[in-house]
Amino acid sequence: MQKEVVLTGLRSNAEFHLGNYLGAILPMVELQKKHAGQYQLNMFIPDLHSFTTPIDHGSLYEQTLKNLKVFVAAGLDIDQPDTFIYRQSYIAAHSEMTWILDCFTYFGELSRMTEFKEKGGQNETVSVGLFNYPVLMAADILLYGAKWVPVGDDQRQHVEFTRDLAIRMNNKFGELLVVPEENAKQTEFAGRSEPVRIRSLRNPEKKMSKSVDDPAGTIMLTDDPNDAAQKIMSAETDSLSAIPKGLDWEKQPGVSNLLQILAILKDDWSNVFNKYQGNTSYADLKKETAVAVSEFLANFQAKMSLVDEPKLVSRLEADENAMSEAANATLLKVQKAVGLRPT
Ligand code: ADP
Ligand code: TRP
Repeated sequence: MQKEVVLTGLRSNAEFHLGNYLGAILPMVELQKKHAGQYQLNMFIPDLHSFTTPIDHGSLYEQTLKNLKVFVAAGLDIDQPDTFIYRQSYIAAHSEMTWILDCFTYFGELSRMTEFKEKGGQNETVSVGLFNYPVLMAADILLYGAKWVPVGDDQRQHVEFTRDLAIRMNNKFGELLVVPEENAKQTEFAGRSEPVRIRSLRNPEKKMSKSVDDPAGTIMLTDDPNDAAQKIMSAETDSLSAIPKGLDWEKQPGVSNLLQILAILKDDWSNVFNKYQGNTSYADLKKETAVAVSEFLANFQAKMSLVDEPKLVSRLEADENAMSEAANATLLKVQKAVGLRPT
């Protein structure tokens, strides 16, 4: 019997930072460790999704390859036979499926998408690509019959939309598409109800992000390890002078952020919390976190330089061929259903 498909994509139009690494890349690597053998894992780079908002097009191609290397350096095993890595734009069926699905998508439902509204939905010059983004995402999922789509909070609404659209198509055309599981089951599958959110070291009320103006708040994976340690040492905390028992994002976001970073890097939450809770000074916590971050970066950067790029590219191309076949098979079914091909 065919294995159920787990599918997830990570946009890559810019350099990754520590937040991307701990919040998205590491969970993808863990997903592979947990499920390989049991499920088919599709982990792809949605490069067509990269310019729904303006980017530097001159660096997109190289950046995509570089970001794939980050996955390998983070521990993704590209020899694993059930894992498929690919670039969306190399599989033409994604674009064609999007057009067909577009014609069964309601203007109203896309207008209500939170991400569209937040990223400038009211603006006259917002791109149609940003509006249409969830339909391309639905095509990404439905072409491979994926049941499981582990994504962060901000993307859940798009997975729900994909489910609605698949059900709508099936009601009209008969059993055509695999319907992804509903939200509650997706969360259960991901095994984590609350995704990791690393905060800015300067403004810990906000998430660490490449788009924040103050670079001192963000640790890039390419940062010099000593500079990164310095950023941790100057991280914004608070004047309460007491390390909380658990994470307290309301009152002590800065200290909670350091505890979280240290606990994930050490992969040992209970030890980190036991060691520091109740301390009246933040100095030791800062020092240990600074050392952990600089060691992590030095180690990670060494692994980046060891990634076998020709091997990665040949695996990528082989997977792109295999996934083109799978995607074309679904597309043909859909083309037949809508009357574009003889049945
Ligand atoms: P950015 O906010 O830097 O532009 P993206 O929106 O491109 O990052 O996010 C890419 C992925 O990284 C998403 O899956 C997102 O959930 C995750 N991610 C981004 N920032 C963080 C953060 N500070 N903490 C945890 N995960 C994050
Ligand atoms: N929209 C997702 C994001 O911004 C990326 C993405 C594109 C994706 N297609 C997908 C995620 C399909 C899961 C499944 O993070």
